[in-house]
Amino acid sequence: MNNFQFQNPTKLIFGKGQIAKLATEIPLDKKILLTFGGGSVKQNGVYDQVKEALKSHDCIEFWGIEPNPTVETLRKAIALGKEKQVDFLLAVGGGSVLDGTKLISAGIWNENDAWDIVINPKNLGKCVPYGSVLTLPATGSEMNQGAVISNTETAEKKPFYSTFPTFSILDPETTFSLPKFQVAVGIADTFMHVMEQYLTTPDQSPLMDRWSEGILHTLVEITPKIQKNQHDYDQMANFMFCATMALNRIICMGVSQDWATHMIAHEITALHNTTHGQALTLIFPSLMRIMVEQKREKILQMGEKIWCIRTGSTEEKVNQTIAKTEEFFRSLGLATKLSELNIGQDSIDKIVARFQENGTVLGENQNITHDVVRKILELAK
Ligand code: NZQ
Ligand code: ZN
Repeated sequence: MNNFQFQNPTKLIFGKGQIAKLATEIPLDKKILLTFGGGSVKQNGVYDQVKEALKSHDCIEFWGIEPNPTVETLRKAIALGKEKQVDFLLAVGGGSVLDGTKLISAGIWNENDAWDIVINPKNLGKCVPYGSVLTLPATGSEMNQGAVISNTETAEKKPFYSTFPTFSILDPETTFSLPKFQVAVGIADTFMHVMEQYLTTPDQSPLMDRWSEGILHTLVEITPKIQKNQHDYDQMANFMFCATMALNRIICMGVSQDWATHMIAHEITALHNTTHGQALTLIFPSLMRIMVEQKREKILQMGEKIWCIRTGSTEEKVNQTIAKTEEFFRSLGLATKLSELNIGQDSIDKIVARFQENGTVLGENQNITHDVVRKILELAK
């Protein structure tokens, strides 16, 4: 087991009717900037619940944080926050609103340009505290320090790390209005967060393996139930809980992590604005196949524990596990080949060139060079 530190200060407020708790979670003397996406919260009643809870607070609003939030939009919110001297932020929406709010929080008391904060960790200074009302289970952003920001001008998408939310309110009823595609990509993203922390080096921590397998099991079990009835409160609650636990650092203590699928998928999104969870399923089956030497033990373990694959030769079991994983993504209605989304050779060449120029190496053993990225993308065509 590797050395590790663990600290997660976010207060999780989970369940039906909990948005009302905003009234007491944010001190009355705060000047609050509420941040939103494109308007789903007005249709599903979340906005009304937030406004009702904060009726005695001093609030202003910023609308229009888009999926794959852009620095161009967030600069406007930062300017508003500076002008109005806000000292608390509340993100109301999915991972994009939350991620965007993390950059707004980092930008308000900071003289650097927002993109310079994203690309250079040294530019991160004191951040405005923020909370969230989450409406889409997927990213884990509600209980972590990460955010991923897009730059339209340079066609880049980059992760950066800031402060944790002070609190996050998760009411599973808010997810009833999600489009089916967003539920599917949310499940895929959650599944992949576990994979990035689980499908790495064998025998590092049986406890972490079991917690990861617990999340995977739960996802596989609840997916058909959710597909049948998205208004099943308990199943959506389980989904929401899985998504938060998959990326709040609770399953990565003492174990190595991969994240290559995510980093390649971010490049796909940067070029094609592909939805995050969909970009992941285009890459992962091919990554498993190309990295099979290194990941064989863990693939076999996953096959046995998650897909109940117990017979056949080692190679047959490995192939069946990869096929089952791909089948799971397809059962979500998601594509697993680049050609299905008309992503062609020119994009592959651009992505490989980017990794080559930056000298970036990926994976738990830092051996996924740009040449290996090419192999993965060529196989994913
Ligand atoms: O903008 P609105 O109108 O609110 O609509 C959104 C958006 O169109 C809609 N939506 C959200 N909740 C809804 C709803 N529609 C109906 N009912 C609801 N309850 O869903 C659409 C997608 O929302 P978005 O926030 O973009 O989705 P998600 O939560 O999947 O976030 C994706 C972003 O998070 C980043 C991704 O790269 C991507 O940019 N990630 C962040 C991570 C983190 N912070 O740790 C890790 C992840 O790996 C991921 O990279
Ligand atoms: Zn993700």
